Amino acid sequence: MKYKNKTDETRLIHEGVIENKYGAVIVPIYQASTFIFDSVDQGARRFKGEEDGYIYTRLGNPTTTALQNKIATLEQGEACVMTSSGMGAIASVMWTFLKAGDRLIADSNLYGCTFALFTHTLTRFGVDVQICDFSKIENIKQLLNEKTTMVYFESPTNPTMKVNDIKLISETVHAYNKNINVVVDNTFASPYLQKPLTNGADIVVHSGTKYINGHADIIVGCVVSSKEKIQQVAMVGVKDCTGSVLDPHAAYLVNRGLSTLAVRMQRHCANAKKFVDYLTKSKYVKVVHYPGLPSCIGHEAAKSQMKDFGGMVSFETNLSFEQTKVFVNSLKLWTLAVSLGGIESLIEHPASMTHSTYSEEELAKYDITPGLIRISIGIEDIDELIADFEQAFAIATNS
Ligand SMILES: Cc1ncc(COP(=O)(O)O)c(C=O)c1O
Repeated sequence: MKYKNKTDETRLIHEGVIENKYGAVIVPIYQASTFIFDSVDQGARRFKGEEDGYIYTRLGNPTTTALQNKIATLEQGEACVMTSSGMGAIASVMWTFLKAGDRLIADSNLYGCTFALFTHTLTRFGVDVQICDFSKIENIKQLLNEKTTMVYFESPTNPTMKVNDIKLISETVHAYNKNINVVVDNTFASPYLQKPLTNGADIVVHSGTKYINGHADIIVGCVVSSKEKIQQVAMVGVKDCTGSVLDPHAAYLVNRGLSTLAVRMQRHCANAKKFVDYLTKSKYVKVVHYPGLPSCIGHEAAKSQMKDFGGMVSFETNLSFEQTKVFVNSLKLWTLAVSLGGIESLIEHPASMTHSTYSEEELAKYDITPGLIRISIGIEDIDELIADFEQAFAIATNS
């Protein structure tokens, strides 16, 4: 990590470039599943961890190492391990650090598959999963007990855009027991806008599929933490439990996408501000959720823990549900698709899509309303994005 003391803008370009035989400026793709040992003794030493060097790509690969080093410095963590999806990252952390009888306390607003993993799967293995609203610190305090080993949340949250106070939550949990792992899903902010480890969190996970890669063409995840914890996640969660290994070719492409994170995020943020300004003034829109609005839950925390407010927004229209569907179907520039954080603007309906793992009662209980629409604001021309909404609203309302 040669560029530890440089800015993110410089690290994104220069960090992680590894020495290679021909002096390639860009990290080469080591598309190999396995690596040669000079001798039986060398193989044994590598397996024992007595000698550095690669063994087998499920345990490590030079192209992937370069990407890991870049992400670790961006998050200001000691180490990172890549996974083949965001869910692979989350599941690898769970299998590494939880055991039957442990209590996991998680926020009530989570990506749908994370919610499903916690409430439908971990519970089958004897983990005591407790869900509560993290915007009220008392809720967490009430649930902490001697069996608690992990506290998990997103910020901003998917899809209600609530901002959880990373410092307050970490301090509160660690004051109770410093060994509890505070895990933050930093996907919506990206490591450019928010660095949870610097606010007291122990572990950061990402769906790198989103802003980190940025081009809607790869599924990828990562975990960032101390060297010791990442070693455990790599050797237990990834190697032995999930096998969620990133392919070296995908690692190369993610590294390429990541290089432009700073400029992409600046544009996402600038576009989102203008779009939110439009939405809040629109006669068709009832409510807007965006960390930059004073009405957003956790707006004060957003101001202190985020560099800017990001490119994700959710809102509800004043139209009937049928009219809202016509509105979405009438968009021409916006793409109706799940996922987020790519250069193109996407729109989706959480209740029937990304959060369909929640039951109807759970959706209602956790404020994922039937009319909620989530948008990922891309880097296109903002006036053209606004004009597209206007023409679609006109069709939906016959005006
Ligand atoms: C906040 C968040 N975390 C995790 C995931 C899972 O990531 P992946 O789809 O890369 O497995 C997603 C996916 O949408 C997400 O939005």
